Amino acid sequence: MKTALKITALAGSLALALSAKAADFKKDVLPMLEKKCMSCHRTPYKTASGRTKRPKGKLDLSTPAGIKAGGSEGAAVVAKDTSMSLLYTRVTLDKFDDEFMPPEGKADPLTEAELKALKEWIENGAETGEWKGTKFDNDGKKVGS
Ligand code: HEC
Repeated sequence: MKTALKITALAGSLALALSAKAADFKKDVLPMLEKKCMSCHRTPYKTASGRTKRPKGKLDLSTPAGIKAGGSEGAAVVAKDTSMSLLYTRVTLDKFDDEFMPPEGKADPLTEAELKALKEWIENGAETGEWKGTKFDNDGKKVGS
């Protein structure tokens, strides 16, 4: 009983400590974008067969400029306004909606923690800090750090 109480208290303070810290782009948002979005939303590149692959929806999420520029439907991120940020509204639709991102079966939907981090990052001004963009080799593997 005592142990159970201690564990509950510990879990409680841990949750508090975690929620008190605001989301950090490089640590909490970027890895999700790299893993779940950039396979389709990255700077144009040539495939092994010489075809040029362009970012889907004209949205390049692999560079700070690309995120700022948005895609064919306009702004992807509007600082401090998740309701105007397609980057957020598209990942929070019903997952059977045609516009849900990432498209069904192509990458895992965002987790609760990722959604929370994305929301916080946008609400805090959507700064991308020191990040200069993420590069990939022809096999889609991340290069550099
Ligand atoms: C398997 C490929 C694929 C993946 C992975 C993917 N998308 Fe997309 N995305 C698309 C396609 C195709 C479109 C264009 C059709 C449409 O608008 O639904 C698109 C369009 C979008 C748009 C609208 C752009 C515009 O202005 O027209 C946003 C925003 C978006 N995606 C966000 C994301 C986010 C965020 C992720 C990761 C969580 C993601 N996508 C992952 C294929 C992908």
